[in-house]
Amino acid sequence: MLEKIESLKTAIAQITASNKEEVEALRIKYLSKKGEISALFNDFRTVPNDQKKEIGQRLNELKVMATDKINALREGVEAKAETLTDIDLTRPAAMQPLGTRHPLSLVRNEIISIFSRLGFTIADGPEIEDDWHVFSALNFAEDHPARDMQDTFFIQRSPDVLLRTHTSSVQTRVMTTQQPPIRIICPGRVYRNEAISARAHCFFHQVEALYIDKNVSFADLKQTLLYFARELFGADTRIRLRPSYFPFTEPSAEMDISCHLCGGKGCAFCKHTGWVEILGCGMVDPNVLEACGIDSKVYSGFALGMGVERITNLKYRVKDLRMFSENDIRFLDEFKAVH
Ligand code: DAH
Repeated sequence: MLEKIESLKTAIAQITASNKEEVEALRIKYLSKKGEISALFNDFRTVPNDQKKEIGQRLNELKVMATDKINALREGVEAKAETLTDIDLTRPAAMQPLGTRHPLSLVRNEIISIFSRLGFTIADGPEIEDDWHVFSALNFAEDHPARDMQDTFFIQRSPDVLLRTHTSSVQTRVMTTQQPPIRIICPGRVYRNEAISARAHCFFHQVEALYIDKNVSFADLKQTLLYFARELFGADTRIRLRPSYFPFTEPSAEMDISCHLCGGKGCAFCKHTGWVEILGCGMVDPNVLEACGIDSKVYSGFALGMGVERITNLKYRVKDLRMFSENDIRFLDEFKAVH
């Protein structure tokens, strides 16, 4: 009897089936009432009592093993049948919802692309900075209000470690490590200690540009600005420069563009002036060049900086700055058509 159990075990371990009918035939052969295993159970009655325990155990093992094996074969052929027949290859695919680029990325990329057509390359710098790179090297006086706790997030005091308040710090990083000609654009995130509202946030994005070489003049700056404004806002855009003050540029200016909503006639958006402000700029102060190890008698340069949120507002009229950081998919979806 034991021999028979063993030989059945070996035989069942080796059975295979390629379709449902074959599996059913095997089930009948081994497990049905008239099957080989049932026949052994019938013979079991004749086994002497002292062997019943061992043989009974083996017999049960054989039955479990055969049942498992046949179930496994059934699952195998069913899965195979499904892949072959139950898939409708003509059914249209479920659409994967596509993400969108963030409006600030779209505008930043556009700004980068305009400047790269003028030969500017991207430079990067840390968001956690020291006082020297953000303020001192850029000619900020010791008591300049921008260093104040109200504006700057300080991480550590003396030596001061802080979150950069503008991307002008990347100028310092580049000027201290490279000699002119320098023609860079620095996009990045900046931080200021401001109460969050529709019009102000404690972080936002800027793009800075810096050009230093021999004989760079204000005329070069003006032409670059005009090209930039027309590429970004359209060929009929006019620009206007107003004198201003920044510690790191002399002379300094703020640039307005003709209001692209009313064409300069005056509307609620431009507060009936026909102009909207978009950036700050100027000729790099010789003090800054010297502080960074560039000979100001040989080289001159211009710099400009703008807020990406502000330009995005102008282009797409996003009224509340907080929308940019809320990740509301309904807002982001509005930019699906823009590339
Ligand atoms: N850093 C200035 C700011 O955060 C923006 C700026 C103005 C950058 C004039 C410049 C510049 O490079 O020349 O408001």
